Amino acid sequence: MSARIVVVGSLNADLTIYCERLPLPGETLHGSGFAINPGGKSANQAVAAGKLGGLVTLIGAVGQDSNAEMLLASTSAAGVDVSHVGRVDVPTGVALISVEASGENSIIISAGANETLSPDAMEPALFADAAVVCLCLEVPLETVQAAAQAGHDAGATVLLNLSPFAAVQEELARLSDILLVNTHEASAFLGGMTMPEPGAPLSEWQPAIEQFASRGLHKVLLTLGSAGSMVLDATNPDAPAIRVAPTKVDAVDTTGAGDAFTGAVAARLASGDTLADAARYASVAAALATTKKGTQAAYPLAHDVSVRLNQ
Ligand code: RIB
Ligand code: NA
Repeated sequence: MSARIVVVGSLNADLTIYCERLPLPGETLHGSGFAINPGGKSANQAVAAGKLGGLVTLIGAVGQDSNAEMLLASTSAAGVDVSHVGRVDVPTGVALISVEASGENSIIISAGANETLSPDAMEPALFADAAVVCLCLEVPLETVQAAAQAGHDAGATVLLNLSPFAAVQEELARLSDILLVNTHEASAFLGGMTMPEPGAPLSEWQPAIEQFASRGLHKVLLTLGSAGSMVLDATNPDAPAIRVAPTKVDAVDTTGAGDAFTGAVAARLASGDTLADAARYASVAAALATTKKGTQAAYPLAHDVSVRLNQ
């Protein structure tokens, strides 16, 4: 079995200002610095997996501008195959990001070229040797659906990162083997169902596990920010809920931590890890990613994660 990871989705230029705290509606604040960095959830996921040793192909769309050049350079530098990232006559996607002193952020995206990624671009041949297909919701939903179908047909493990949150067709959920969500996305997906507190007894996760399963999702990775993550697996009767302890770090910028988690899960599943082992590894990778500013440049190498895992 090949270990190729196919990431389908977005590339954005991240325009970031660092500030003491996030502004209130109508408020203007002085920030303390400005940076333009490569971002976009899918490009981030691809780079995270590539830096951890994964064999990655990225399928997406960028414009003809300098932001496109920056993104292609950054993803290629991580070893990602970008020969299926199309160039279109629409500006490259942009994200306006504010990061406050706590490391917390808020983001507005303008999809631009990402919006042009069409279902027709999801040619079966691109997925033929995929072990894992990684999807998020920053490109049109019909494209995500077509990619999920192509991945499914190729026998790949389809990972769906339900971010930024959108209501998705039942069919897309059913085609996805693993759902990656934070607690907000999990609640929204389950029609407002409240998730247990991170420290709650494992049995309290049973209703959520059943609800996910009734929507066709038997395996769910739930990120809990600084509280770690949960592995929910309805197919594992011995341990349907596993808690993954947090990795303690001093966070300076949490932007793209979820993408680091997703990319790391993809990389570890492609090299044969169990879901729980992949989640443990990804938890460390995501925590390390928050210790530096930005996303892709902040993502750890396999060596950095191993050192921390073995401490
Ligand atoms: O998840 C972080 C990413 O979300 C940023 O890189 C930004 O581009 C937005 O897509
Ligand atoms: Na970071």
